[in-house]
Amino acid sequence: MSNPAVPFPPEDELYSNAWAKDIFKDKVVFCTGGAGTICSGQVRALVSLGANAAILGRREANTKAVAAEIAKVRPGSKVIGFGCDVRDYNALVSTVEATVKELGKIDFLICGAAGNFLSTIEGLSSNAFKTVIDIDLLGSYNTVKACLPELRKTKGRIIFVSATFHYTGTALQAHVGAAKAGIDALSHTLALELGPAGITSNIIAPGAIANTEGMERLAPKNMIPDDMRKNPAKLNPLGRWGTVSEVADSTIFLFSDAGRYVNGITLVVDGGSWRNSNSIANFLYPTIFQPGAENFDFMTTKGAKKQNGSKL
Ligand code: COA
Repeated sequence: MSNPAVPFPPEDELYSNAWAKDIFKDKVVFCTGGAGTICSGQVRALVSLGANAAILGRREANTKAVAAEIAKVRPGSKVIGFGCDVRDYNALVSTVEATVKELGKIDFLICGAAGNFLSTIEGLSSNAFKTVIDIDLLGSYNTVKACLPELRKTKGRIIFVSATFHYTGTALQAHVGAAKAGIDALSHTLALELGPAGITSNIIAPGAIANTEGMERLAPKNMIPDDMRKNPAKLNPLGRWGTVSEVADSTIFLFSDAGRYVNGITLVVDGGSWRNSNSIANFLYPTIFQPGAENFDFMTTKGAKKQNGSKL
């Protein structure tokens, strides 16, 4: 990920060989968090199979650069990058308008914008907790509300990108677990409320996906020994981390005709990992919560530095 304009792992496949070309011809996808590794991989697969796309990210220049990279996957495709913070409802409404002006409609919505970092509850200020709730949960709500008039016209499909942290509870993820639980509840409700309008709402919950920003943030090198990192057989029933293309495959399925009767589900794409143990912190559990661990450095971000020296 040295070049932020190319977030997807170059060695990864786009998707499996299960899908026919052009299945998404003339479809339009609208994706928040679309400049991130996983969501750009989802969009790139859909564009490759015929769709046009609008991707939204907070860093406008980077998002436009990622859009240009995605467009290369299919000559003639239209992929637009918009600078937009999902916490700003009015900005989303304007971006939906601009998308419809440029691409004509919205068929598929991916709510993927998310924020995450590792923190104990002591290290988490009220504003830090609220920031993640605002980006993940309120941002998903804002996005759906802004897109809904368009989705009603197309009998569209919605996918929320969630997580598995809240299934078992995950140390250092109080903020994200709460936000993702809320997203799941939102999707389940929409499946019921919007189903009669022909709109489906489903969740994809990726596990640990290799070469992603999430892996860098949530599985820092000081928490997972190198041998485990290379060979995660003790963590994952399938003995490996997931790939972006495997999340893309699930996305293709849910948006394709094959997924037309699937509504209100959570598709967990994690190799069965959460059923084993969901907590990356288990490597150091409970050591990092005991006296003497006050200076443990979870990661090298602003907040983590702030945590150093604070009480765990
Ligand atoms: N530990 C504890 N608190 C942290 C933190 C950390 N690692 N990182 C940020 N925070 C706190 C900040 O200190 C601040 O709280 P304060 O005002 O009480 O000091 C609060 O969170 C908001 O931080 P700020 O940097 O102002 O928010 P932002 O909106 O610019 O950034 C984040 C949002 C914090 C989620 C940031 O990590 C981000 O931009 N992430 C986007 C990418 C991402 O996380 N993707 C998910 C991949 S899994």
